[in-house]
Amino acid sequence: MSALSCSGVSRSFGALTAVDRVDLTVAPGARHALIGPNGAGKSTLFKLVTGTMRADAGRIELAGRDVTGLSEVRRNRLGMSQTLQHSSLFASMTAAETVSLALQRHDGSRISLLPRRRPEVRDRADALLADVGLPGRGDTAVPALSHGERKQLEVALALACRPTLLLLDEPAAGMSAAERGRLVELLSGLPPEVTVLFVEHDLDLVFALADSVTVLHLGAVLLSGTPADVRASDAVREAYLGAGRREELFTRD
Ligand SMILES: Nc1ncnc2c1ncn2[C@@H]1O[C@H](COP(=O)(O)OP(=O)(O)O)[C@@H](O)[C@H]1O
Ligand SMILES: [Mg+2]
Repeated sequence: MSALSCSGVSRSFGALTAVDRVDLTVAPGARHALIGPNGAGKSTLFKLVTGTMRADAGRIELAGRDVTGLSEVRRNRLGMSQTLQHSSLFASMTAAETVSLALQRHDGSRISLLPRRRPEVRDRADALLADVGLPGRGDTAVPALSHGERKQLEVALALACRPTLLLLDEPAAGMSAAERGRLVELLSGLPPEVTVLFVEHDLDLVFALADSVTVLHLGAVLLSGTPADVRASDAVREAYLGAGRREELFTRD
């Protein structure tokens, strides 16, 4: 059974069909990348999957269960967890407080930010921060974190819900090369029980991480396959560069 399956999923904005009858299957444990030129419909499809936005047509299944009509919160409880393209972290909190809040919300327990009252939550928050590459950074205020560290914190928040499917929209956006390196390490180190679907602009990062790739173009699936299939595809090259252009699309081997 697939971790996620979309069949015939569509969404229009007025006359524009942003997502056009998309079929997408993500295998359990996959590191599946969703790529395509700007405006291809990646973020819209992502929102349809998370439930942030409703599809006009089609069916979305999470581990075989139809979630098409379910809210974002219900999908979240069933094991979907996302980070967003635009960060929405609380400016007045520390890293550990932010993660503690997410952990308590997931537990459904009464929320307290006083570490003395909830030492076990603080311990779990510190462990999660260490998992995402932020060991010992719990007492740092969110605004004092670098851009890359904030992205790592967002992954910790998404993991606080113990997801079976982790969804990331452009996790490396705005990161330095060193920060990208750490992100690749973090995502490749996630346990195999966590399936990852990520939208990514940086093709080097896609090929460093993904074991399967779906290419969207003008709202529709142009190709789904292995990274090697995508590299070899003239259709993908043309979608990115325009017909007849000969320069290299992929720089890393
Ligand atoms: N809320 C919206 N209202 C109207 N048009 C939208 C909306 N969101 C996205 N679009 C349009 O849908 C198309 C796909 O956008 P998007 O999914 O953001 O693409 P991508 O993430 O691949 O760059 C674009 O033409 C975009 O302008
Ligand atoms: Mg986008």
